[in-house]
Amino acid sequence: MISPSPRAPAAFAGWLDDTNDITKAFLAAGNVPDMINIAGGLPDPQVYPSPQIAEIAARAVTDFPAETLGYGPLNGLPELRAAIAARFSSDLLHLTSDNVLITTSGMQGLDLIGKVLLDEGDVIAGQFPTYLGALDAWRPRKPAVRKLLLQSNALDFTDVMRGAKFAYTVPNFSNPTGRLVPQSTRLALVEAAQSTGAWLVEDDPYGGLNYDGPLPPSMLTLSAQSSAAGPNGAYEGPVIYLGTLSKLLVPGLRIGWVIAAPRMIDALTLAKQGSDMCTSGLNQRMACEILKAGLIEVCNPTMLTLYRRRRDTLCAALQRDLSPWFDWDVPEGGMFVWLTARDQQLNTDDLFKIALEERVCVSPSSVFDAEGRFRHGLRLNFTFNDEAKLDEAVRRLARATERLLTV
Ligand SMILES: Cc1ncc(COP(=O)(O)O)c(C=O)c1O
Repeated sequence: MISPSPRAPAAFAGWLDDTNDITKAFLAAGNVPDMINIAGGLPDPQVYPSPQIAEIAARAVTDFPAETLGYGPLNGLPELRAAIAARFSSDLLHLTSDNVLITTSGMQGLDLIGKVLLDEGDVIAGQFPTYLGALDAWRPRKPAVRKLLLQSNALDFTDVMRGAKFAYTVPNFSNPTGRLVPQSTRLALVEAAQSTGAWLVEDDPYGGLNYDGPLPPSMLTLSAQSSAAGPNGAYEGPVIYLGTLSKLLVPGLRIGWVIAAPRMIDALTLAKQGSDMCTSGLNQRMACEILKAGLIEVCNPTMLTLYRRRRDTLCAALQRDLSPWFDWDVPEGGMFVWLTARDQQLNTDDLFKIALEERVCVSPSSVFDAEGRFRHGLRLNFTFNDEAKLDEAVRRLARATERLLTV
């Protein structure tokens, strides 16, 4: 019998060519000894309440074997959906379980939104600079991403949102800039969503990490006041709110939620069916018990104290070593300090490569721009490393900057 001549394997989908080399370099940097990684958005594992979570896990399997070890409902455990609806309801915002979909963490919410809203080439108005993971989630649809600039004084977003399927924002301590969007801007975004028909995605992993003061109301809440409620009182407004346990407690459970109008929840549920059938029942049951036990509230003060101190350490080191070249604001919350070079010719993609040689890994701004053109910014994380490492990371980054500027 003649064996068929081997053929080259089928090609990868075209969008893979659009991803950047920097992301691949990040992944490789994880394995280099003595590298200080201030690129990622990682919590410090020392804040994880592992004994309490271990006990909750054991009890969950013993007490709920069918629910934790079997397939579960596509849209999430009814008890968890109800708990999320109750947690986010207030005098100003009435939510029912129909407003809630449980997701396999925040990233799945972003992915599903792309699946249900984007046809190839559709327009997104993305808060600029934009969270890299969101750009990654939507890249297969080849969207056109318009820049939504929230730090300017302009409060009319109708032009940039008109014709867009949705606007994407991280109003609480944005990734990558750490900035807090003020209430006036939030209201203007809600008004623009209502007048243009664009959905308004409010991605909120970092709202629990507020070091210096209270937050403005969410756009979900602000929009409820100007949106008619559905027949059973459910929220029907334009905001699609994304939450996650990842930065509030632990990322490993991969538990997140979407809060939105029931018709949006139904569409996302349909998309989830083709994605993972259901989020882990064990992890959902654990999330129910975590919420009931108030574990987030128990752990939050420790997290805030630790991360506030690290933020201050990083900013003091930046002042000492990087102030000749960069500007930054001290973030009021979240996980990142955002630096912009005073000289726009200072190319942070180049700095990133020299910094790797100096054994510090940072995030250059180009990865937070859908077009990859913004090349004079840097995102630095202050939550994962202790203070001595943060201090040393800044010394290394300063050495790398000097080297860049003397070549
Ligand atoms: C802005 C933003 N959205 C969503 C996520 C996704 O987080 P997870 O999938 O762990 O919930 C992250 C994680 O870093 C983030 O920074």
